[in-house]
Amino acid sequence: MQSKPRSSEDALSKALDILERGGVVGIPTETVYGLAARLDRPEGIERIFTTKARPFFDPLIVHGPSKELLRSYASEWSDVSEALATEFWPGPLTLVVPKTAGVSDMVTSGLSTVGLRVPRQPLTLELLRRVNVGLPAPSANRFGRTSPTRAEHVVADLGDQVFVLDGGPCEVGIESTVITVEDRGVQILRLGALSGGEISAALTKRGVPFEWIQSSQAVSPGQVKHHYMPPVPLVWLENASSLEGLAEKILPELALLPTEWEGVPLIRPQVIKSISKLHLPRDPILAARSLYHELRVQSVGADLLVFVLEPWMQAPEWAAILERLRKAALIRWPSNETP
Ligand code: TXA
Ligand code: MG
Repeated sequence: MQSKPRSSEDALSKALDILERGGVVGIPTETVYGLAARLDRPEGIERIFTTKARPFFDPLIVHGPSKELLRSYASEWSDVSEALATEFWPGPLTLVVPKTAGVSDMVTSGLSTVGLRVPRQPLTLELLRRVNVGLPAPSANRFGRTSPTRAEHVVADLGDQVFVLDGGPCEVGIESTVITVEDRGVQILRLGALSGGEISAALTKRGVPFEWIQSSQAVSPGQVKHHYMPPVPLVWLENASSLEGLAEKILPELALLPTEWEGVPLIRPQVIKSISKLHLPRDPILAARSLYHELRVQSVGADLLVFVLEPWMQAPEWAAILERLRKAALIRWPSNETP
C-alpha cells in the first residue's frame, strides 16, 4: 500500500519523479483515468502494456499540455487539424495524424500515424506542463475491462503498486472521440464525448473546407469486439419483457461462449441467483458521467447484470454510450447473438 501524498504539490512531485525514472502513473482526465509514461522512456511505455495486459497491436494516445508541443509529433498538420485543435483542445478529441520519427513504433503499434490530445483536467494539465514531453496513456484499466473514472477504480483494477494522481471523479466519463485527419478528409474511428455534428459545426464556423470520409475498414486497431466489460457478465436486452425467465434461458447460451476472445477473458456465471438491472440517469450527459462507475457498483453482489434498451436512448446523444454498452455486453438477448 502506498502512502498518500499530503497535498497536490506532493502528488505532482511524486508523479514527476516516477515518470522521470521510467515508471507509470495513473492520471485523471476529463474523460477517463489514463496510465501514463514519458514518450522518451521506452521502458515506461513497455510497462504501460504489461501493467494493463494490453496487446502491443493497440496504439496509445499521446497527451500534451498544448497544441504547440503536440504538433511537434506530427509530420503533417493540415488546416483541419489546426482548426479542430484550436476549437476543442483542451478537450475530449483525439486527432490521429501522420507521425514524426520521434514517436516510437511501440507507441503507435507500428502505424505511421499517432493519436494526439490535450486533456481538460487541471491537475494533469499541470503535470503535462511540468514534464513538457508527451505522455502516451491508454485508459487505466485491464485490457477489455471497464474504464476507470475514479482513482479508486484504477487501484481496484491495476493494484496499489500503481501511483495514481487523484483528481476526483471524471467530468465527462466516457472516452474521447477519435478521428483521423488526412488533409481535408475527416473520419471517425471511435465515437466519443464529442459528436460528429459538433466537429462539422466547428469547421464550418471557421470556414475550413473538409469532407467526411466513411469507410467500413477504418476502425481503430484497439476497437476489439469485447471491451469495457464490467466485473460480472452484462447482457444486452432489446426490451424489458425478455427479463422474464432470463436466468434459466440464458445460462446454457452463455455456456456455449468461448472462454476468451481476442486476448480478453470472457467471464461466464456458473449459476444465476441474482440479476441486477443497470440503472442510468435519463440525461445522456449524466449517464455518460456515471456509466463506468455504475457498471462497477451495480455488479456488486450480482451474478448477472442486464442492460435494457429504452426508447429514449435512440437520441443521437446516446450513441457513444450505447456503443460502449454493446461492447461491454457478453451477449445480446433475445436475438441470441453477441453484440
Ligand atoms: O479519452 C481518452 O481517449 C482516454 C484518455 C486517457 O485520454 N484514452 C483512451 O485510450 O481511451 P485507449 O488506449 O483506451 O483508447 C485509444 C483508442 C484505441 O482504440 C486505439 O486503437 C486508438 O485510440 N488509437 C490510438 N492511436 C491510434 C492511431 N494512430 N490510429 C488509429 N487508432 C488509434
Ligand atoms: Mg481503453
